[in-house]
Amino acid sequence: MYFVANWKMFGNYKSINTLNKVIKFSKSKAIKKGRLIYCPPYTLISSFFKKFENCLIDLGAQNCHESEDYGSHTGFINSKMIKSTGANYVILGHSENRKKGESDQLINTKIKNAIKAKLKVIFCIGETLIEKKKKKTKAVLSKQIKLGLKKIKISSNIFIAYEPVWSIGTGDIPKSIELEKTVQFIKKKFKGKPPKILYGGSVNTENIKDLKKITILDGFLIGGASQNSKKFIDIVKKTYN
Ligand code: PGA
Repeated sequence: MYFVANWKMFGNYKSINTLNKVIKFSKSKAIKKGRLIYCPPYTLISSFFKKFENCLIDLGAQNCHESEDYGSHTGFINSKMIKSTGANYVILGHSENRKKGESDQLINTKIKNAIKAKLKVIFCIGETLIEKKKKKTKAVLSKQIKLGLKKIKISSNIFIAYEPVWSIGTGDIPKSIELEKTVQFIKKKFKGKPPKILYGGSVNTENIKDLKKITILDGFLIGGASQNSKKFIDIVKKTYN
């Protein structure tokens, strides 16, 4: 199981000290087969990399520029630059960035170039509340998958994070039966072996007890709760107990 910590625009240099607990946990037997991936803001990736030197915690970025080359793009970072920090993952297509205007086509270019740069991609998809109410979830997910992954060979480099937009940061999560059906639906979109599927949206130390019962999931993308090491560890522990 994969546990991805999405710190969003939170954290500063002092946050590094809060990682000691997680590092200790990552070296203990209690972690079982859990794989931890931290996606802090760009400003902290290198420091986290140094901090994680002697443990198996992996790193990722939360987005990247679409260009595969270096260039005059003030304020941006491409996948090559992310890879050079020691990170191995990048989150792409997050709804918070789609909301700011990232199109499926742009996300597709980012994914292609991230793979070229040898990053693994955590590709986020999900419907809004209005789309859900209009029973458009399947149509929305199909479109996001079709366009976002256009001309991309599915391999272990792609993870899909199903994150209903209405669930992010709200405390609401889908009903188990509904979530299971949606994950099945996503898996069936792929002809060969489907990519690993994570669930994201308000995962916390309480609802993990229900979420872990959805055994077709390969892990979780955790926002708010991941900024607190104790909560993050608790989520991993509860997944296995
Ligand atoms: P949340 O965020 O866990 O705070 O809902 C998840 C995400 O946006 O990836």
